[in-house]
Amino acid sequence: MNATATVPLIEAAGLSISFNGSAVLSSVDFDVVAGEVHALVGENGAGKSSLMKMLGGLYTPDSGTIRVRGVPTRLASVNDAIDAGIAVIHQELNLVDTLSAVDNIFLGKEPRTRWGFPDRRAMRTAARNVLGQLGFRASPDALVGALRVGEKQLVEIAKSLVAEARVLIMDEPTSALSDAETHALLTLTRQLRERGMGIVLISHRLGEVFAVADRVTVLRDGRRISTLPVAQVESSTALVSMMIGKDFAPPERGADEAPRARSTSVEVRDLSLWGPSRAMVRDVSFSVRAGEVFGLSGLLGAGKTEVLEAIYGISAYRQEGVIAIAGRHRSFRSPNEAAESGLAFVTEDRKKDGLVLDQSLEANFVLPSLPRVPGFPFYRRRRLCGWAAEQARASRVKHRSVAQSANSLSGGNQQKLIIGKWLMTKPRILLLDEPTRGVDVAAKAEIYRQILDAARSGVTVLIASSEIDELTLLCDRILVLCEGRAKQIVPRSDFSGDLLINLASP
Ligand SMILES: Nc1ncnc2c1ncn2[C@@H]1O[C@H](COP(=O)(O)OP(=O)(O)OP(=O)(O)O)[C@@H](O)[C@H]1O
Ligand SMILES: [Mg+2]
Repeated sequence: MNATATVPLIEAAGLSISFNGSAVLSSVDFDVVAGEVHALVGENGAGKSSLMKMLGGLYTPDSGTIRVRGVPTRLASVNDAIDAGIAVIHQELNLVDTLSAVDNIFLGKEPRTRWGFPDRRAMRTAARNVLGQLGFRASPDALVGALRVGEKQLVEIAKSLVAEARVLIMDEPTSALSDAETHALLTLTRQLRERGMGIVLISHRLGEVFAVADRVTVLRDGRRISTLPVAQVESSTALVSMMIGKDFAPPERGADEAPRARSTSVEVRDLSLWGPSRAMVRDVSFSVRAGEVFGLSGLLGAGKTEVLEAIYGISAYRQEGVIAIAGRHRSFRSPNEAAESGLAFVTEDRKKDGLVLDQSLEANFVLPSLPRVPGFPFYRRRRLCGWAAEQARASRVKHRSVAQSANSLSGGNQQKLIIGKWLMTKPRILLLDEPTRGVDVAAKAEIYRQILDAARSGVTVLIASSEIDELTLLCDRILVLCEGRAKQIVPRSDFSGDLLINLASP
């Protein structure tokens, strides 16, 4: 090994930062060397994103030093970080919805023709090439606003690849990706490592950490617990124990818990959803009993979200077929109508329609429940505040006070807040789309417990997820969709990862 190879690309020492007087990171050391994948793990709110925002020039540390290839460097802005060769793909995506994928990828660094005009042809070719490597299937000319979350994430990844960064920091890049896309991204990550890039991977999917990382750093409550080679970590259970500081086991649906005699709660018959050029969903039929946990499985774009949207009455597509709720034909014209009939919908895109980010936790918690408060619109604010505080505790949202704003919570805690606020409305039918995306293992267990408790009390649960482990843990039956069509409904006794993956493939 020569001398330059041993100098880390980035070396941070003693980084501390606090917000509103409370310490978020306390004297953390962290380094990245060329040709390695360094995983960063920890519970929601442990400080992972904050640490990376300091390396990306978004947050200024209160104390500590950052060296870039041995040279002490002040990263006072995002441009400083880019100049230092550091690219960060943030957890909450940062794309311009009104521009195409190609334009987003080259925003601010368009290649020019000989005459000084943006070279659109070169841009399209390069964009197509990178997006192709990532398994991006939509058109590179599509407006980013029209893409689904998983596709947007691929555009973000393409963008930083084109910027030719030496250090690539990915904050939960795979949380919105399907298994196939995740696999493609991990393969790409290995290739970038071979080219000598230093990669930081933040992920709650510990399988990924074991699959690609060379070293792992564990953060807990803003402190570094350990940095060690992945080969020295005994098991994922051992890693989880380091993260949460104790042992734990996730809850699981029992084999005999599926309701037998209960009435049909949701029935979907011959549902087709027509987009402008093709059917997004075609002839899908199934029925779900009250108190059942029913899963929707399939690759990105298989139609899981579209089916849930149709049931909730917010589908953007022309609809054929019948949807019946508790035996009555229904076609809701607004989310309010659906909510009045006892439906709640936790959508996949929390940035877009999950939370009012600049409002308090309290406001977010009680908002959907307000119409059901006895005596509404006359109620006592103190009482609401108490309910919100109670739900915040039950959902284990890590917070200082219910008066703090939703955007000051870490990503995973925002997701717990969204599920909690819908559970507060006491729905009879709970629709969940990717409910634990970006949620840490312990918090995931907490959300699973809440979902299973709701089902045991008679709530009908429909859950769409790209994580097969999640579905097999929770569901009584799973419907596998492939390119908009129903492949098969698998009962709990037949669950196996291989079967579900095979059924989902075209
Ligand atoms: N701009 C901010 N203002 C106030 N508090 C903040 C801010 N940014 C982060 N925090 C707080 O710092 C703590 C760490 O947050 P951070 O987002 O770094 O966690 P994380 O480890 O990335 O969690 P997750 O896995 O949920 O993404 C949280 O308690 C969060 O509320
Ligand atoms: Mg984070």
